[in-house]
Amino acid sequence: MKLNMRDMPVTLRSPTAQDGASLHRLIRACPPLDENSLYCNLLQCTQFAATSVVAERAGELVAAVTGHLVPGREDTLFIWQVAVHESARGQGLAHRMLKHILARPDCAAVRFVETTVTASNRASWALFEALARGLDAALERTALFEQTTHFAGEHETEILARIGPFAAPGQQLRAMPPTDQSMETTV
Ligand SMILES: CC(C)(COP(=O)(O)OP(=O)(O)OC[C@H]1O[C@@H](n2cnc3c(N)ncnc32)[C@H](O)[C@@H]1OP(=O)(O)O)[C@@H](O)C(=O)NCCC(=O)NCCS
Repeated sequence: MKLNMRDMPVTLRSPTAQDGASLHRLIRACPPLDENSLYCNLLQCTQFAATSVVAERAGELVAAVTGHLVPGREDTLFIWQVAVHESARGQGLAHRMLKHILARPDCAAVRFVETTVTASNRASWALFEALARGLDAALERTALFEQTTHFAGEHETEILARIGPFAAPGQQLRAMPPTDQSMETTV
């Protein structure tokens, strides 16, 4: 029996420098995400590996989340980009990747998740609304970077979505299996 690609197991792990070029290609394949330089992706894969995740299926990088703890506010995980290749969408992968990062020891003190989303990105709003529901936390929206003031008219306003406060990961992520981040997780 031929195995459909969508049915193949997906492995979640922290990125390494070897993932930089694949992450760059994935972001390019996932509009409306902004493309960053490959150098920027390499920094995400190394200096921000503890708060980022990549998902592999059959040896291919099919999804990723990049994030960091906000300097001076280490109780806040900022999610920079979430990218799921078209071939892997609609299977809960984006949501699982966010929970995977939150379950890490590096995020033990995290009580808020922040990200920015444009008003037109319905899939992204649906994802973060689902995350807020799963964490049993409020989601507040405020304009952060505005189209005219900050983007010189060249980019839609980015709205800050702030989720929290939520309980310690061990408490509200009961549905997740315990995650040892030194190990890979297959979902
Ligand atoms: C947005 C994106 C990451 C979602 O990935 P995904 O793995 O398909 O998302 P999930 O399956 O985990 O879905 C999470 C929630 O979002 C909802 N959702 C996902 N895609 C959706 C869409 N296109 N329209 C409406 N809702 C959507 C799901 O129904 C689910 O909500 P639920 O739990 O209430 O059912 C993916 O579509 C993508 O990479 N898009 C292009 C890049 C982008 O816009 N990234 C987000 C900005 S940072």
